[in-house]
Amino acid sequence: MTQITYYGHACFEIECNGKSMLFDPFIRGNALASHVDLSSINPHYILLSHAHSDHTADAVEISKQSGATCIGVYEVCGYLQSKGAVSIHPMNIGGSKVFDGIEIKMTQAIHSSSFEDGTYGGVAGGFQISTDNSHFYYAGDTSLFGDMQFIGKKRQLDFAILPIGGNFTMDVTDAIECAKLLNVNKVIGVHYDTFGYIVINHQNAIDAFSEAGIELILMPIGGKYII
Ligand code: NI
Ligand code: MN
Repeated sequence: MTQITYYGHACFEIECNGKSMLFDPFIRGNALASHVDLSSINPHYILLSHAHSDHTADAVEISKQSGATCIGVYEVCGYLQSKGAVSIHPMNIGGSKVFDGIEIKMTQAIHSSSFEDGTYGGVAGGFQISTDNSHFYYAGDTSLFGDMQFIGKKRQLDFAILPIGGNFTMDVTDAIECAKLLNVNKVIGVHYDTFGYIVINHQNAIDAFSEAGIELILMPIGGKYII
């Protein structure tokens, strides 16, 4: 069983194997997530897809309060450590490592990556997560790219978490193509509505995915979903 809690934008927490992983924490700066209590979020791991503040802004605070280990590319981890993150585990694209029975593999993404103050953030990435009973892919901020077809080829993905808001990332049309490349029929949409640039029509998005035979799940902020 895999439980997902959505905290808005591209931030979500996944619990599997008795451990919790928080992805791309951006909560206090997100007006749509003002009802989420940051102090109640205490994951074991914080996974960072890239340096942009809408993915990393709350990582140090949550690492301090929970003791969570920050996982991301080398440059992102080094920066967060210099800002006070209590534990880091640097990786890079194509690398994988097992943490408490959870295999985390960093995948490629096509996107930029720098911190708010201009510090170089390395390259942007995504994550492929495998446990005994769960296998999923979080694309991070990215455009559609052909090599997505190789993700999950070894083992069927249960679901994918994809950006659908367009402008900075894939839009709904490209995310549908991505899901087809991944051969996945369940998608959780992220990275939409937070800013004016990425506001989408929910029903149109759900219908477009449905026409392609894919279920699109748009979670309420603070809501939980069990797969
Ligand atoms: Ni970004
Ligand atoms: Mn972003």
